[in-house]
This record gives sequence, C-alpha cells and structure tokens, in this order.
Amino acid sequence: MPTALVTGGAGYIGSHTCVVLLEAGWDVVVVDNLSNSSEIALARVRELAPSGSLSFHRVDLLDEPGLEAAFAEGPVDAVVHFAGLKAVGESVEQPLRYYENNVAGTVQLLKAMQRHGVRDLVFSSSCTVYGDPEEIPVTESAPLGAANPYGRTKLYIEEMLRDVAASEPGWRMTLLRYFNPVGAHPSGRIGEDPTGIPNNLMPYVMQVAVGRRDHVTIHGGDYPTPDGTGVRDYIHVVDLAAGHLAALQALDHIDGAVPVNLGTGNGYSVLDVVRAASAAVGREIRYEIGPRRPGDVAAVWADPRSARELLGWTASRSLDDMVADHWRWQASNPDGFGSATLAG
Ligand code: NAD
Ligand code: WQD
Repeated sequence: MPTALVTGGAGYIGSHTCVVLLEAGWDVVVVDNLSNSSEIALARVRELAPSGSLSFHRVDLLDEPGLEAAFAEGPVDAVVHFAGLKAVGESVEQPLRYYENNVAGTVQLLKAMQRHGVRDLVFSSSCTVYGDPEEIPVTESAPLGAANPYGRTKLYIEEMLRDVAASEPGWRMTLLRYFNPVGAHPSGRIGEDPTGIPNNLMPYVMQVAVGRRDHVTIHGGDYPTPDGTGVRDYIHVVDLAAGHLAALQALDHIDGAVPVNLGTGNGYSVLDVVRAASAAVGREIRYEIGPRRPGDVAAVWADPRSARELLGWTASRSLDDMVADHWRWQASNPDGFGSATLAG
C-alpha cells in the first residue's frame, strides 16, 4: 500500500480527502495540531472507511521532533499538505501568525521531506492567488497577486515550491488552486465546522437554516452581475477530495511545481445559493442585502481544463448536491463536532 502523510487531515477538506484516499487503498498518516479541527472528525473518517489504515499525530508543523516521528512511521510516498490558517480577516489582524504558521510551517515540512527523501507533494493553494482577475474564466497562466496576508501566504508558498523544485531534479509538486469548497460527505458524518461567526457564505446560510442565526446579510446587491450579487465557482468538497486522489495518481506525469485549478467552471450568485439552499431545507432562508464587503471581487470562476487534461479529473456534483449534502451535515450536527464525543 502506498502511504500518504496528510497535514491538516482533521480539517474540513483534509478529512474528506482522507476518506477518499483510504477507500482507494492508501495508508494515511495524519499530522494536525487540531488548532481548527476536532479529533472526532478522524474517528468518523475511520467509521466511513473502516478497512483503511489511518494513524494520527497531534503535532504542529513547527514541531520538528514531532514531525520526524510522523515521517518515521512511513516510509512516506507522498505528502498532501492542507495544514494552514485560512481566515482572511484574521490574517489582516495577525499577519505574523499567518506567515509563521503557513509559510514557516511549510518550510519545516519541506525540510522533513528532504531528510526523508520524499519528493511528491500535493499542496492546497487557492484561487485567492489570482486576486481580482482580469479575465474570467481564470486560467493557471493568469497574473498572480493576492490582496491580503492570507492570500500572500499562499502566493509565497507557491513561489517557494517553484524555487525548491527548480533547485534539484526529482520534485513532483501539484499546486491545487481551489475555488469555493462547500458541501459535505453524503453520510452527514463529516463536514465544515467553523468556529465563531462563519466568514464564508455556505456555512452562514446553513446556520441560518438551522436557527443559529437570524438571516444572511448579502454583501452587495449592485455588482455588475446578472442579479447584482457576487458570483463564485462553488465546488463540492467530495469532488475536491477526489481531485487530490487524481493529483496523487497523476504525479508520474508531473515535473517540477505545476499549478492546477480545481473548480467546476460554473459561476453561481449569492442569491442562487440562498435559493438552492432554501429548496434543500424546505423553507425560505431569510436574507437582507447589505453593503459590499471590502476586498470582494464581483465574479470569479475557474477554467477547469488543466485539471481534466493533467489529472483526468472533473467535478461532477451540482449546486443542488452541494446544498443538500451541506444541509444533511448541518441538520444532523447543528453544533458541528461540538456536542459529539469520540465514541459516536
Ligand atoms: P481547516 O481549517 O478545516 O483545515 C486546516 C487544518 O490544518 C486544521 O485541521 C488545522 O487544525 C490544521 N493546522 C493548521 N495549522 C497547523 C499547523 N501549524 N500544524 C498542524 N496542523 C495545522 O481548513 P480547510 O478548509 O480544510 O482548508 C485546508 C487547506 O485548503 C488550507 O491550507 C486552506 O488555506 C486551503 N484552502 C481552503 C479553502 C476553503 O475555502 N476552505 C479554499 C482554498 C484553499
Ligand atoms: C462568497 C460570496 C461574498 C458571506 C473565500 C476566500 C478565498 C477562498 C474561498 C481560501 C461572496 C458573499 C459571503 C456572507 C455574502 N478561501 N457573502 N454574505 O470570499 O469568494 O472566498 O473563501 O483560500 O480565499 O476569500 O468566499 O464564502 O466568503 O463569499 O453575501 O455572509 O458570498 O460577498 O460574493 P470568497 P465567501
């Protein structure tokens, strides 16, 4: 069995990817400090993929001996690197925390990979590296330029990976630029569990649906889009997880550090999402139109052709699947993992 070391494997996208990797016959070693996740997610990953082998190291990427112990469990064939802080607003207030955790954490990870002769990496980048794109759909060759410290951590890590790949032959790195991940595993057992008030649209909509919040504030109704609200490329997290397996399987054809968009190629507005969620939930989700959110762009969606050509992957789940699955998770876990125990 090949072994993948998955950093951030207890998190939202990481936990869904662990299920897909285990189902495909990979052994998984998770490294996560649980700074934004719960060990219960990993218990449920094991429940969803019971025949697979998953071990867990509660370790921070900056803890070198702890990281060594995780690599020593190998031999590790490839690393899937999700671990990172991701809240845009928080990154503006605490930039050094973001640079240390995301950039310095990745330096430590790459050094550990070098020590252990591991040269295969799948990295969680983001469409945020495109900033406000000049052309939509966005291709991987679009100019880069992030608009906040979080986005710049992704940009600097991408640059660092290109430098490392250029410094010696043998590195095979896929830099997956995700668009807007939403949804949950169809079992409703794992899903997104943001702490505090959600920054992102879908978890906010679902917390309104479950009665934790009163209404959704739509950030701007005067954008140059068909209905005036912002347009994004929402992608089902299970499709995204499958994209990571495809990326691992395609590393034989990768040389150096190669960026690949993971999106559907479709743009949906905030109102499209609220309406689809209302239909899935079976009642109207209240909303009000407020002012634009600083830093937001009007519309962005992916050109997903590289993913098809290089990874043999395309997204298959619709917006209705995304809201139905996200709702199943939220309705059966109204407090996220908060009220669950490791036993069930
Ligand atoms: P998440 O917060 O649910 O998962 C990240 C995981 O990394 C968490 O379990 C956290 O505890 C862990 N972690 C953070 N810093 C760590 C450290 N120093 N050492 C060990 N573990 C650490 O986030 P997610 O939504 O699953 O995102 C995964 C990755 O994808 C992140 O790198 C994020 O920036 C990127 N990404 C996310 C989105 C999105 O909208 N969710 C979009 C594009 C890119
Ligand atoms: C989507 C749309 C909002 C909340 C962010 C990060 C990006 C990437 C994905 C990590 C926009 C609108 C939102 C609300 C609203 N993450 N909205 N009311 O901003 O496209 O991207 O997540 O890499 O880097 O910036 O996602 O879900 O916050 O917003 O009207 O309460 O929903 O204005 O049009 P965004 P989002």
